[in-house]
Amino acid sequence: MPFVFKDGQLCADDVPLSRIAGAVGTPTYVYCWADIETRYQELGRVLAGLNHRICYAVKANSNLSILARLAALGASFDIVSGGELERLLRAGGSAANVVFSGVGKSEVDIDFALKCGIGCFNVESASELERLAARAKLLGRRAPVSVRVNPDIDAATHPYIATGLKESKFGVPAPLALELYRRAASSAHLTVVGIDCHIGSQVTDPKPFETALGALLKLVDALASEGIALRHVDIGGGFGVSYDDAKPLDLAALGQALNARLADRDMELLVEPGRYLVAEAGVLLTRVEYLKPAATADHRNFAIVDAAMNDLIRPALYQAWHKVDVVSPAETPARSWNVVGPVCESGDFLALDRELALAEGGLLAIGTAGAYGFVQSSNYNTRPRAAEVLVDGGEFAVARRRETVSDLIGLENIV
Ligand code: LLP
Repeated sequence: MPFVFKDGQLCADDVPLSRIAGAVGTPTYVYCWADIETRYQELGRVLAGLNHRICYAVKANSNLSILARLAALGASFDIVSGGELERLLRAGGSAANVVFSGVGKSEVDIDFALKCGIGCFNVESASELERLAARAKLLGRRAPVSVRVNPDIDAATHPYIATGLKESKFGVPAPLALELYRRAASSAHLTVVGIDCHIGSQVTDPKPFETALGALLKLVDALASEGIALRHVDIGGGFGVSYDDAKPLDLAALGQALNARLADRDMELLVEPGRYLVAEAGVLLTRVEYLKPAATADHRNFAIVDAAMNDLIRPALYQAWHKVDVVSPAETPARSWNVVGPVCESGDFLALDRELALAEGGLLAIGTAGAYGFVQSSNYNTRPRAAEVLVDGGEFAVARRRETVSDLIGLENIV
């Protein structure tokens, strides 16, 4: 557990969060490296019986320090833009260990990835396959490809993060996938290497992954009978974590199911976890600016903090529930608070109706914020984005300094 109370103080590993707030200010994202490393190794153990690669989904948290450390552990990566590829290369990652996902790869991004020697393009449409072949021809290279199959599976998650249903924009249905493989196999500019899917995010039941893998393997066999051999099968990411007390995905059960289906096949398994590796390793540290208790019984109590929807949009966007901990509990009676930010929108809340003992000036830690937190932050209301701090045992360091207003307006001209 990366965040636990020691002597009445919430700590990140061995570092009191109040020390970090004192040194760096708030709002600040705090990540514990040890937890990320432990999870990476745990997943490796679960998949140990299979020839496998863990491709960290960079979009979940793309801080250079985290990428550099995962690369040093031997991770592979899943990216969705040229920008993410550039980050990864800066962090010391190698393009050969990268799969490139996404429905809208631009020519510029495709060219960059080809020149870097990317490991695989996860292709999502007939037009993309055509563009890829054309760019590869132009650059005198062969593009390694996998086709993202949409298996039409209900992953039972929030509609915005479910991706494996036939009404979603992602992937192609099985019959079209077969057709794209035939085209790819006969192209002088493409090399068929694998098959992939991604059914959604924050999935807590192993069953949909197993069903999706079954659907992919059926295609693998159909292609093999036509003489098209695939080296890898990529089941995407989406491994669910614990935001409240609900059960996270049972990794061991997932591992068993994957083993059962893949043990006697000569194929490499790829997984693309983002959230699983980083979510629980992070909190968003924020300070209470004002307490605004209900004026009458039919009003609400508001705790106005210095973090807002621009820092963590998940509650506003997905009605996501994040735990709130008081870093140094106050000697005040607990009551129900809506924890809200300074942004001028009623949707600007971090947590609603939480029983907390609060005092003005006190610190709060918004839990399970290591994934899709900072990366989805914005400058709405001309709010500089938060600092990011990495904790390693008893030490901490600023992994991204807090933005300044000059950083923001420096890009603009008065025209
Ligand atoms: N692979 C692909 C192709 C993906 O689209 C995603 C996530 C992943 C892997 C990693 O999924 P994960 O293991 O992190 O669940 N912003 C949302 C989540 C969006 C996920 C998008 N795709 C949130 O805050 O919940």
